Amino acid sequence: MSLVLAFDVYGTLINTQGLVPELETIIGGKAEAFSQRWREKQLEYAFRRGLMQSYQDFSVCTKDALEYTCLEMETPLTQLQKNELLQAYASLPAFDDVKPALAQLKEAGVQLYAFSNGAKAAVTRLLEHAGIHDYFIDIVSVEELQTFKPNPSVYQLFLDKTGAVKANTWLISSNSFDLIGALSFGFNAAWVKRSDKAIFDPWGMTASLTISELGELAEFFVSK
Ligand code: 2OP
Repeated sequence: MSLVLAFDVYGTLINTQGLVPELETIIGGKAEAFSQRWREKQLEYAFRRGLMQSYQDFSVCTKDALEYTCLEMETPLTQLQKNELLQAYASLPAFDDVKPALAQLKEAGVQLYAFSNGAKAAVTRLLEHAGIHDYFIDIVSVEELQTFKPNPSVYQLFLDKTGAVKANTWLISSNSFDLIGALSFGFNAAWVKRSDKAIFDPWGMTASLTISELGELAEFFVSK
């Protein structure tokens, strides 16, 4: 049975802090904190919508979270600034290690999928913009089920769409909530710990593999 890697997108392949330079030109020193809070609220809104069974596209969570962050951080932005930020969010950059790592894995015959809480069209645009779309066999998006990771049904959807089996499937993610969701469901899970400060939620589980950048995946999988 061949190895299947399911790459989380936002925060793993794509840098969700990629708008900090743009934010700095608008709100100066608050930019980094603003960007982090925006991301936290975006995820919280997705989780809550999943629990409430009141699905809206991930981009709605992003937009609503931007509004919230402006209010919480007392940072009034004009409608034009908000629209520009949301447009830029749709073409956030990939991390530098992503392209060479995907190229190496694909070359070695590993099956690569993108697996995201984002809508398929939005993820397609992001990956195309970052020049990494063609490394993936397909994009599996939660939108088909109208709920979000870490709902276990979404990990099942991944298996249904790809024909993969749990034992040979690895989630590759920087997001602890996603890794714990995948491990609980029975996938293997590789934690891309991009910062020394990143914390794995202390729920009594550990990632099957911890790496600091994606280049280490090829060492682990290709030499196997
Ligand atoms: C994803 O791309 C939300 O980071 C998450 O699924």
